Amino acid sequence: MASEHVIEEKKQGQALVTNNIKGNTKKLFIESYGCQMNMNDSEIVAAILETQGYNTTNKLEEADLVLVNTCSIREKAEQTIRKRLQKYNRVKIDENPKMKIGVLGCMAERLKTKFLDEEKMVDLVVGPDAYKDLPNLLKEVEEGRDAINVILSKEETYGDISPVRLNSNGVSAFVTITRGCDNMCTFCVVPFTRGRERSRDPKSIIDEAKDLWNKGFKEITLLGQNADSYLWYGGGLKKEFKKASEIAQQTAIDFAKLLEMVATALPKMRIRFATSNPYDMHEDVLHAIANHDNICKYIHLPVQSGSTRILKKMNRQHTREEYIELIDKIRTIIPDCAISHDIITGFCTETEEDHQQTLSLMDYVKYDFGFMFAYSERPGTLAAKKMPDDVPLEVKKRRLTEIINKQMAHSKFRLEQFIGKTVEVLIDGVSKKNKEEWKGRNSQNAVVVFPKTGSEKLGDLVHVKINRATAATLIGEKI
Ligand code: 5AD
Ligand code: SF4
Repeated sequence: MASEHVIEEKKQGQALVTNNIKGNTKKLFIESYGCQMNMNDSEIVAAILETQGYNTTNKLEEADLVLVNTCSIREKAEQTIRKRLQKYNRVKIDENPKMKIGVLGCMAERLKTKFLDEEKMVDLVVGPDAYKDLPNLLKEVEEGRDAINVILSKEETYGDISPVRLNSNGVSAFVTITRGCDNMCTFCVVPFTRGRERSRDPKSIIDEAKDLWNKGFKEITLLGQNADSYLWYGGGLKKEFKKASEIAQQTAIDFAKLLEMVATALPKMRIRFATSNPYDMHEDVLHAIANHDNICKYIHLPVQSGSTRILKKMNRQHTREEYIELIDKIRTIIPDCAISHDIITGFCTETEEDHQQTLSLMDYVKYDFGFMFAYSERPGTLAAKKMPDDVPLEVKKRRLTEIINKQMAHSKFRLEQFIGKTVEVLIDGVSKKNKEEWKGRNSQNAVVVFPKTGSEKLGDLVHVKINRATAATLIGEKI
């Protein structure tokens, strides 16, 4: 399998289209790469630009403004984006010289003025915390100047902006709850591109969720680089919590409380969340999941490596044994919970023995899904500064293949456990292979396909008896 992933990344790099506000005459072409947070940020950007007279378009040639929301997580992600920028520039020169081009997101934050000075490929560079400055920056650009804002913020959560839902199926939506990351894993560029952790006011989260429900949405995913680290004490950085007043500290709302609040306020909305760092995931979150039928029984719990020695080098703050303890707790408190992982192969100094530890951890957990990557050194990270990238590429790739093969076997094993059972499926679209079939997901996030009967519609929760499983899909019939 050539791909780095077992699971596809959603809607990578597609033009994001939806809004059509009457009276808006300017056209925005916006593409998003990377994580779900980036997708949601593009929806926030579209909302900000809607007030500036822009509607979205999927025709690159006709755009007045082209924005690419970028990812820096691995070198390959950055290369893909550079190619896209070259393509935009060709279209600009050949077909639409008035077009303005801007870079948003993590790569904007990482490379800053380099885009303007060296590459001369863009007019506008905006980091993840500066989107509210877009109207001012666009004025600069319209007056013929390059514009840049890559200032990271202590407070910005965009809690007051109602995102324009782009490429939406009208059923599932993202709701961002925290921004930034304080964990400082040594391989990861995110703390540098997205800044320090801060949480969003729970009231604005619940208001947004209610608004989505009223608009017909049936599922929300609460998003954070580190969702379990959510902590609201009136605003401000997580790391300044200890400086807050006693009352603020006592009345603070953590992730378990937030989950309970959202699940109770919207008892029929399906609730998912991502991503969980094992270090920050506590037992009360597991009880919240177990206690509410509407919180999906699925946890994305990246482990990165099964070797305690490597975990230490990665600054992951937990050992292999502690991770296994957490897995055991999940299995006890939520017996039907699906679990997925992220794993990196070939991190600095990784030996065959370390790799075997990762494989044996996978055997222990038998994950339902997984996202797997070969280590890619990122400039500026502690690993890049202090640890030689000493595992040869062929070795990284061979280990990656072994891990992917194992995950495929485990995914198959997990899917097969549903055969003969009846599961609850939220219909989120029509099957790509057959228009006469619906597609949806069960609580455990497995994709389920079944024939239409004529009595159900998009957004319905239906019961489906599972008859068989392919490599990544359950196939059944509505009962
Ligand atoms: N190289 C390879 N994979 C990485 N990830 C993060 N940084 C790197 C890197 N430098 C992976 C981790 C993380 C996921 C989002 O991307 O597994 O959990
Ligand atoms: Fe990529 Fe990470 Fe930035 Fe998301 S937060 S876009 S995964 S670098």
